Amino acid sequence: MSPESSTAPAEARAGGLVDGAGHPAVSPMAVTPDTELSAFVPTFRASAPYIQAFRGKTFVVAFGGEVVADDTFPNFIADLNLLASLGIRLVLVHGARPQVEKLLAQRGMESRYHRGIRVTDESQLGSVIGASARARARIEAALSMAPRTAAVTPSHNRVTGGNFVVAKPIGVIDGVDMKYSGEVRRVDAQAINDCLKDGDIVLMSTLGYSTSGDTFNLTVEEVATQTAIALKASKLIFLLDTPGVLDADGTVISTLYTREASAIASKAPQASDVQFFLSAAVRACQKGVVRAHLIGRKSDGAILQELFTRDGIGTMISVDSLDNLRPATIEDVGALLSIIEPLERQGILVARPRALIEREIERFFLAEHDGQVIGCAALYPFPEANKAELACLAVNPDYRREGYGERLMKAVERAAKEHGINTLFVLTTRTAAWFTERGFRQATITDLPEKKQALYNFERASQVYVKQI
Ligand code: ARG
Repeated sequence: MSPESSTAPAEARAGGLVDGAGHPAVSPMAVTPDTELSAFVPTFRASAPYIQAFRGKTFVVAFGGEVVADDTFPNFIADLNLLASLGIRLVLVHGARPQVEKLLAQRGMESRYHRGIRVTDESQLGSVIGASARARARIEAALSMAPRTAAVTPSHNRVTGGNFVVAKPIGVIDGVDMKYSGEVRRVDAQAINDCLKDGDIVLMSTLGYSTSGDTFNLTVEEVATQTAIALKASKLIFLLDTPGVLDADGTVISTLYTREASAIASKAPQASDVQFFLSAAVRACQKGVVRAHLIGRKSDGAILQELFTRDGIGTMISVDSLDNLRPATIEDVGALLSIIEPLERQGILVARPRALIEREIERFFLAEHDGQVIGCAALYPFPEANKAELACLAVNPDYRREGYGERLMKAVERAAKEHGINTLFVLTTRTAAWFTERGFRQATITDLPEKKQALYNFERASQVYVKQI
């Protein structure tokens, strides 16, 4: 073991999240862009894990007819093309409400809704089919467009559709006969998968066909949700009018677990985007879709920002937390070094050669966010003295002040207790405040286990802090 292996100053000094004392953050890992161009590099690098993770995964993207009618529609389609080019298996589900309304108005007919769902009578079904076909043609045309900036003509996108959804009538709700408005009975996942396997983009409308040969008008959220579930999709993405699910102050709620999300959905105004899409998102997640995202249709590039940045831009719904604390394994050595090396270079942590880390890997705990290692801490027990050292507590500066340091500290405490140890100590040069706020009190070198005293580095002159656990 290195003579002096502490500690948490790592985080605080490095701008790493936990500095309760409010020291100015010096970030050894952050790149300071001095031009706009250089800002691109860290951004692009940060998106790499997502690019890798998404290849070969199935995403279902649902959007209403408003999106198709919008001026920015070609940009949205260009972004979808980009996703497809990264190897994402894309299923698009489009609505056509404004298009249907326009056609009905032209024909002197009125739209009727019950609980936010169109009541489609026989005389209107033709308009629904016509409007849906028009919307589809516009989407197919846009998907076929080669990007203006492309030097060479990229390979042509193939768009497929078909009778993938078996429908049935909704029937009567609150005494209202919904007529040709229907529900999903079954989604032919195999047929869709066959197309995706061939590299096609699958484009689905809200029309479904019953086994009796009738056409039914379905809702976009139901088709999308049932399709995502049937395909075991990684993601279900809805575009809505607001930039995401908003809290009382109008700020986007960035992440929701299914339980919180269903509480919000049940309180949302009747027939609102949030009520429909958020409940659909919850259903999808409960049935195995990994993540659902609600993003604003009005902000250009929102889908890219949501998918390729850590914090996204809209609301993400998932069953579990993204955060994970776990013991390190030998495969983690590289990731661990990338967290601690910048701090070692600054003299904040005592240098630990790779070989040492490999030998002592089982002493380390890791904090992960979304599958990436972002923090670590180690436990060095001195059982003969009934004491243990909390060492090498460090967190990536991008994740500062999010409580990872504290959770790592607690994990180390728990592990120490499991060793039957009831005193934890740290050696720190600069972040005493962080530890005192968390129940440590200053002690002296003589409070250290004898073995540790023998290794104490007087030049470094760290302070000793202890905590009874
Ligand atoms: N880019 C990541 C993903 O697509 C994380 C997105 C986080 N989004 C959010 N609204 N918090 O899975």
